[in-house]
Amino acid sequence: MKLFSPFKLGPYELVHRVVHAPMTRLRSDDDDSPSTMMRTYYAQRASRCGLLITESAHPSYDSRGYVGAPGIYTQQHVAAWRRVTDAVHAKGARIFMQIAHDGRQSHSDLSWGNAPVAPSVVPFDTQVFTRAGWVPNSPHRELDITEIPLLVRSFKDAARRARDAGFDGVELHNANGYLADTFLQDGTNKRTDAYGGTIERRARFSLELIEAFASVWEPHQVGVRVSPSGQWGSISDSDPEATFGYFAERLNDYGLAYLHVIEPRVKGTETLQEGQSPVASGFLRTIFRGPIIAAGGFDRTGAEAILQRGDADLVAFGRLFSSNPDLPYRLEHDLPLAPYQREAFWGGDERHYIDFPVHAPIDAVVAD
Ligand SMILES: Cc1cc2nc3c(=O)[nH]c(=O)nc-3n(C[C@H](O)[C@H](O)[C@H](O)COP(=O)(O)O)c2cc1C
Repeated sequence: MKLFSPFKLGPYELVHRVVHAPMTRLRSDDDDSPSTMMRTYYAQRASRCGLLITESAHPSYDSRGYVGAPGIYTQQHVAAWRRVTDAVHAKGARIFMQIAHDGRQSHSDLSWGNAPVAPSVVPFDTQVFTRAGWVPNSPHRELDITEIPLLVRSFKDAARRARDAGFDGVELHNANGYLADTFLQDGTNKRTDAYGGTIERRARFSLELIEAFASVWEPHQVGVRVSPSGQWGSISDSDPEATFGYFAERLNDYGLAYLHVIEPRVKGTETLQEGQSPVASGFLRTIFRGPIIAAGGFDRTGAEAILQRGDADLVAFGRLFSSNPDLPYRLEHDLPLAPYQREAFWGGDERHYIDFPVHAPIDAVVAD
């Protein structure tokens, strides 16, 4: 199968094309450091010469949208993530950190009572996770243009810390209606200044973040995740082909590691319509000249099919990886897959997190 053929991703020689998709599981320590449980989770899912992408990590305290999501804004975080990357590297795998500012999908309780921020005020309803549990998001405010350089700086510092923590690269979370995505798409960006209006201006914030990442990493160690026509976070665009086509074209300027594309058949964590074919990866393939990771609703057959069609180079699996620590091995040997457990997705203990059985002939558990 092409899924189990090698692929060179930037400087990294991968032996298969099954990627762990970023998944927020809300099990960090109280100071937002990745916990020991999280280290075990990633080590279990590390396969020799495979690629893992972490759950989104936050570049600052006030960029969080969910209590329990990890940070990359202190030296303690660097030290704790170093334990994760060491454990993953000990198994021969590669690991990229996804970095995200959650933007308007947040609550003032997560930010010293301050309102969440967004490019523009466009009211919407979602649920966010605070110390009080799942609660409705709080009203957001429009970012002043003078705040934007500070935000870019926080992403740059986070990328540097990720490098210090031993990651192999970083991924910009430009998907699912979080801050960068809300700048890019016109349903949420109503600005009339240098960061809004035309598509060139709407893309500017994301491109500044990518340039910040590429100033501390080699560009081929920087990935970008997008979700064209995705509905998570109540986001929308009046012309997704034009917006994402323009964005992908601009990304060609950088020589990035990859473009990671979530198919619109998935809304965040749920498949909207079973049986719907992937469309976004194939469209962006015609524009973006680097590697493409396709994500969203793939199984063994669908993954092989998109690789055979040439619409993607790698395929990321989310939910199935959550319940199958040795997913690449199981897919390669066509073994049965354990069903994922939605009630354990966000928060909780080791149950349905790091207690799924492993078939692969490798002891996946890392000792403390
Ligand atoms: C519990 C859970 C948490 C997620 N957290 C993130 C995240 O932090 N960042 C992100 O880009 N996508 C996140 N996603 C989306 C997944 O990366 C992936 O796009 C989605 O699960 C669809 O892929 P699948 O059909 O293989 O599960 C999450 C999905 C799940 C199930």
